[in-house]
Amino acid sequence: MSEEAIDTTALGSTMPGVKVAILGTGKMGGILLQAFLKNNLLSEDQLFATVHHPERAQVLSAQFGVEVTTDNLAAARQADVILLGVKPLQIPSLIETIRPALTPEKTLLSFAASVKTSAIEEAAGCDLAVIRAMPNTPATLAAGVTALCAGRFVSTGQMAIAQKIFQTVGRTVVVDEKHMDAVTGLSGSGPAFIYIIIEALAEAGVNVGLPRDVATLLAAQTTLGSARMVLETGYHPALLKDAVTTPAGCTVDGILELEEGGLRVTLIKAVKRATQRAKELANG
Ligand SMILES: NC(=O)c1ccc[n+]([C@@H]2O[C@H](COP(=O)([O-])OP(=O)(O)OC[C@H]3O[C@@H](n4cnc5c(N)ncnc54)[C@H](OP(=O)(O)O)[C@@H]3O)[C@@H](O)[C@H]2O)c1
Repeated sequence: MSEEAIDTTALGSTMPGVKVAILGTGKMGGILLQAFLKNNLLSEDQLFATVHHPERAQVLSAQFGVEVTTDNLAAARQADVILLGVKPLQIPSLIETIRPALTPEKTLLSFAASVKTSAIEEAAGCDLAVIRAMPNTPATLAAGVTALCAGRFVSTGQMAIAQKIFQTVGRTVVVDEKHMDAVTGLSGSGPAFIYIIIEALAEAGVNVGLPRDVATLLAAQTTLGSARMVLETGYHPALLKDAVTTPAGCTVDGILELEEGGLRVTLIKAVKRATQRAKELANG
């Protein structure tokens, strides 16, 4: 059985009859479009996509066999679930354009950073379900994590569909909207923080004599393996850390250096600063 076939079976969830439009099929929208098709969540004829440039529409259409245009209103009219994937500042004008297609039966699923569900509800002008999502870049490898939060008119079924949609690119978690800036600061910005840690570990490996490619492999796989230990054992990270820390051994000496260098506090401050910045962006 091919890996792709295993993926599809494991997901076990197609959405027959549901039509989905992605308005703004750039980096993140494109990752989602590919994931929907790869996982058989949706077939080509259940999908509509839009972009700004007609030539890009042609390229995407040829690449994926999906109807890709620059006509947001037409795509929105055909869809039950409308994904909003343009830049945050473009959201108000996009909603203005698709307003004639919006009815209470439709679901708007926005993954634009910092744009509140209340702002989208207000612009939409009718009582329809608005769900906000914050994915992160490991979505590219279906290893992302997406936080979702519900607006005022969202049913359990609509949230379940949104989760199914984002589970094609990784894990999902549902939070209160008040936590979305914190999500942005932690899992949105987090990959950049982790890359710096991996880069530093690899640099350290080179410093103690390892070839760079070996050092990078060791650092990255150690990060991946440690993350899997946390997720799959369910043990507290401190317990897992204690388990590799032999009395009077090497690891405890390394940990002392980390504590002296303030790694823990620095990471906490980094997430706090990124969260604060996300709040500022939301306020314009
Ligand atoms: N990238 C990430 O990791 C990430 C993570 C979380 C959230 N987000 C959010 O995702 C959204 C998109 O980000 P991105 O990184 O994917 O940006 P991007 O690659 O620049 O994609 C934006 C897309 O919107 C299209 N577009 C622009 N104006 C349009 C219009 N009037 N109608 C239809 N399509 C239009 C562009 O079309 P053309 O291709 O023709 O220019 C482009 O395909 C942002 O709101 C961002 O906050 C992104």
